[in-house]
Amino acid sequence: MALQGFLAQLDEVVTAAEAAFSDAADSDALETARVTFLGAKKGRLKSVQQQMGDVERDDKPAAGKAFNQTKGRIEAAFEAAQQRSAGSSSGDTDSNQFDPSLPGTSFRLGTIHPITQTIEELKEIMGRLGFSIVDGPEIEDDWHNFVALNIPDDHPARDPLENFYLATADSMQEEKNPVGLLLRSQTSTVQIRVMEKTAPPIRIISLGRVYRPDTADATHYPMFHQIEGLMIDTNVTMADLKSVLRLFATSYLGDDVSIRFRPSFFPFTEPSVEADYYWNNQWIEFGGAGMVDPNVLEAVGYDPEEVTGFAFGLGVERLCMRRHGVTDIREFYKNDVRFLAQF
Ligand code: FA5
Repeated sequence: MALQGFLAQLDEVVTAAEAAFSDAADSDALETARVTFLGAKKGRLKSVQQQMGDVERDDKPAAGKAFNQTKGRIEAAFEAAQQRSAGSSSGDTDSNQFDPSLPGTSFRLGTIHPITQTIEELKEIMGRLGFSIVDGPEIEDDWHNFVALNIPDDHPARDPLENFYLATADSMQEEKNPVGLLLRSQTSTVQIRVMEKTAPPIRIISLGRVYRPDTADATHYPMFHQIEGLMIDTNVTMADLKSVLRLFATSYLGDDVSIRFRPSFFPFTEPSVEADYYWNNQWIEFGGAGMVDPNVLEAVGYDPEEVTGFAFGLGVERLCMRRHGVTDIREFYKNDVRFLAQF
């Protein structure tokens, strides 16, 4: 047999094998093609090899070399096809291989901030006691933050060092700044806003942010939240105030909490008390309260001879700290997810 004829047969087999391997649709078809071309007994390569015996003696080395090269090419083509087939069946390259039975990708869910959770719970407790919720602005004027609350001009609570006054263009020229805008320092402002617009009886709470230039420490922060309560009606007494505050505290903190009322002073209540609870072997103040001062009732146009009322303002962070055993208020505002995710 002439060398040319033998080489032509090798060319034919390699071309057919490469086409068959790349056309194989799945691993079964690929295996059939492998047996057809590389099969040890009846494979097409084997039958070409058997014809090598007929090649002229002098041409035998060249024929053998060509045969080995052809065999290498066919085996490489088979291996490449095998890898392609394995990759597609694992779903890496073929989106049609989507497996709906696999678990989905889970995303970490955030949690509601502990102070927001506390606010929601306090609203619910006071709602059960018949108090409805009202909102007030965080930027306030002199009238609502001080004047109507019976806080005179020379009172230390009005000191610029005790408040965040706003440097508006107008406030730079005093005669043009009759309102003295500031970030409210207490939610008691909402008492005035409600009474100005509503006739008695009133039974409301208001929850929100207040701002004071206090140095941050374990129990103080320059921005914190208060819950304000106001009840106005005929014959409201100090006994009502004490009952509501006690019920409120035990509902939120549990029946075993010890509470005390301590005489105090606020310009807008008379008499005034400070409410404390016992925690870690000491009394911690959770808010101020008292009977609404007649001057305040008059400032909003009520007749103090006809109606009386009580008001209270409590620190939301302090309540939340006591409830959850948080010993440093600053933890709430560090935005450390390891802390926040615990609530
Ligand atoms: C008031 O703000 C009065 N408006 C409360 C009030 C309302 C009295 C109605 C009478 C009638 P005081 O300044 O004490 O009071 O603040 C009330 C509570 O806010 C405090 O008891 C404390 O729990 C909380 N508080 C005060 N300052 C801070 C602060 N810097 N950081 C966190 N909580 C604070």
